[in-house]
Amino acid sequence: MQDVSSCSLDELDVIGPDTYAANGYPHAAWRRLRRESPIHWFDVPGGTGFFAVTRRADVVWLSKQPERFINGPRLAVFEEGGPVVGERRMVRQLLNMDPPDHGEYRKPAAGWFTPRAISRRAPEVERISRELLDEMAGDGETREGDFVADLAAPLTLSVLADMLGVPREDWKKMFRWTNQIAGASDPEFQADGAGFAGVEQTRNELFQYFAKLAEHRRAEPREDIVSVLTNSTVYGEPMPPLELLSYFLVLVVAGNETTRNAASGGLLALIENPGEFQKLRANPRIVESAVEEIVRWTSPVNQFCRTSTEDLELHGKQIKKGDAFCLFYASANRDEDFFDEPDRFRIDRRPNPHLGFGIGEHFCLGANLARLELRVMFRHLAERLEFVELAGPVERMRSSFLGGAKRMPIRYRLKKRATGA
Ligand code: HEM
Repeated sequence: MQDVSSCSLDELDVIGPDTYAANGYPHAAWRRLRRESPIHWFDVPGGTGFFAVTRRADVVWLSKQPERFINGPRLAVFEEGGPVVGERRMVRQLLNMDPPDHGEYRKPAAGWFTPRAISRRAPEVERISRELLDEMAGDGETREGDFVADLAAPLTLSVLADMLGVPREDWKKMFRWTNQIAGASDPEFQADGAGFAGVEQTRNELFQYFAKLAEHRRAEPREDIVSVLTNSTVYGEPMPPLELLSYFLVLVVAGNETTRNAASGGLLALIENPGEFQKLRANPRIVESAVEEIVRWTSPVNQFCRTSTEDLELHGKQIKKGDAFCLFYASANRDEDFFDEPDRFRIDRRPNPHLGFGIGEHFCLGANLARLELRVMFRHLAERLEFVELAGPVERMRSSFLGGAKRMPIRYRLKKRATGA
């Protein structure tokens, strides 16, 4: 592990995916950057460098000026040059659009993700959680399993697939696509070991699949997101095919990978902080603040970029038009200027002004859905989980873009049936 106190600032490794796979998020390096150089330039071997933004106030300031600091040119920092999606306009979706298009394109889906619309999904989320937990519970004996495969992944996947209108027999495909795109830096998930080129192959498969589904829904609309977007208009015209298919892609990837990682990271934090787990068991009503703390603590989306449209000076650094800022949400969420004891996991933390879902123009479209899924899942776990511990090492994804566990082996005992669920 790097000795972050003795190396130079330029030597700090804040983006190498191997560092993330081995040690998790580089909190010690970020702590030093927040203190000594909150806007700091890093070179990327064989790629384009970036300014690392590590303080919460700066992430907010940049995110709230979407015309000055734009998303279009660069989605995020990828050490190996990055996936073709987003960079070569193979995909055109909300995350790489800027005003005024961004707002126009966000409107058609927005109605599906309001707090009221999402609260209507609650019975379905309850049902899926209960069924998955019943299956995990067996006869209430002590068992072993992989929390990611048994609960975190199938819950988020089934809720989203159902909202999109994807038939059940195709859910496995969706799972593979999301892993291959979001986990593009991890050899385990790369399509045919093809690295970032494999992302293009996966994107094509996903596009072909959704093009067919959209055709069906154009002819016979149903109560699902694919029908709504397929039949929506932007600037008074039907949504063009590239933008329509890209919409499905971003929902599938953003909706699965992130919430899954918050769930596994949240359970891990509870295992490592038994006193906090006890608080939740004693009072499952605090699940709302527990979920906010889980999102702050895990920050499943580590970073996204903004590109400057002008020359400027920031914290004494000369920024040129076209330079990229890498907004490290996970660092902002440990900023000692905003969080009391930032490196402690406290499920009753209030206030909790975390940026786990971003802020401003691109604030997470799915935040209400993610919160619902996490609340339901952790309330059920608080009520039913009598015992839990790690049964092996947590295997982290090799990615500095989305942080999370690929596998989390646990030994546990779950009550056979939920009480009062
Ligand atoms: C714990 C779970 C989640 C986390 C931590 C998370 C995090 C984020 C973050 C940080 C952004 C902002 C990106 C930026 O500022 O450039 C974002 C945007 C977005 N998220 Fe999420 N997300 C989560 C769950 C979801 C879910 C469940 C969905 C959809 C079903 C979703 C869909 C989106 C979309 C479409 C955007 C782009 C919004 C825009 O550009 O206007 N996310 N998310």
